[in-house]
Amino acid sequence: MGVFDSGLGGLTCAAELMKLLPREHIIYFGDTARVPYGTRSRETILEYARQDIAFMKRHNVKMIIAACGTVSSAVLGMEAPAGDTPFSGVVEPAARAAAGLTKNGIIGITGTPATIGTAAYERALSSIAPDVRTVNAACGLFVPLVENGFTDRDDLIVKECVKRYLAPIKESGADTLILGCTHYPHLAQAISDYMGEGVRLVSSGAAAAVQAAEHLRAYDMFTDNTDKQPLECYTTDSEELFSANAGKFLGSGIDYTVRRAPVEEIIKGVSA
Ligand code: DGL
Repeated sequence: MGVFDSGLGGLTCAAELMKLLPREHIIYFGDTARVPYGTRSRETILEYARQDIAFMKRHNVKMIIAACGTVSSAVLGMEAPAGDTPFSGVVEPAARAAAGLTKNGIIGITGTPATIGTAAYERALSSIAPDVRTVNAACGLFVPLVENGFTDRDDLIVKECVKRYLAPIKESGADTLILGCTHYPHLAQAISDYMGEGVRLVSSGAAAAVQAAEHLRAYDMFTDNTDKQPLECYTTDSEELFSANAGKFLGSGIDYTVRRAPVEEIIKGVSA
C-alpha cells in the first residue's frame, strides 16, 4: 500500500492503516522538503501530486492513498489519477463518515486554503447527504504549526489560532467537524477544547484508512504476509528531521524505517 502526503500529516492515515492491517506492507512518502502544499496554486499542487503518485507507482504498490486533503481535493473528478492502480483520496471517506455522525445536520469543514477553495468536501457531502448544512474555515496556519511541533492544547499560539479560524463554525452550531487536512488531528485536543466535547471530530486520514481496508476486503486484496510489517518511510528532506517528528505522529508501538528520496529524484521520475 502506498500512502503519501506533503509532509507528516498523512502519518495519521498510515498509523490507522497499520492498526487495521498490521501485516500489510505500507510505504509512506512525505514531501517534507516542499511542504506546505495547501497555500500553493492548483497547477503546482497537481504537478507535485503527479510526481508523488509516480514515486509510489515505482514501488509497485497495490493501492495508493493520497493522505492529503489538498491533493485529494485538487484531483477530485479526475479520472484514474494513478492509472490502473486503485487510488483513494480523503475527501469522500471523510464526508461519508461525517454524514453518518451528524445529528443536527450541521457539519463544519476545515482544510487548507487550497482545499477550501475547491469546495470539494461540500460537493461530496451534497451528494452523500443533500440535506446537511455546511460551514467552512480555511486554516492556513495549522499545517506550519503542526510541522513545527506547535500542537499543545495549552499553547497560547495554538489556542488563539484555533479560536480565530473556528469561531464561525462554532457559532453555526455544527455538531460534527471534518478535519479536512491530515495534519489537523494533531491539533484535535485544542480544537476539541474550543469546540466543546459534544462536537465530533472526523479525522480525514483515519476515515480514508478505514475505507481503504474495506476496499482490500471487498476485492480480496489482502496480503499473504503472516508477520507484522514495519512502515517504510521516504522523505524528500532530512531523514533525521523526519524521524524526530514521525514518532510523535505515529505514537508508540509502530516500527518504521526512513530513507531520503531527494526532490530531484521525485521530479525526474515523472519524465523517466
Ligand atoms: N496534510 C495536507 C492536507 O491534508 C497538508 C497540506 C499542506 O501541505 O498544506 O491538506
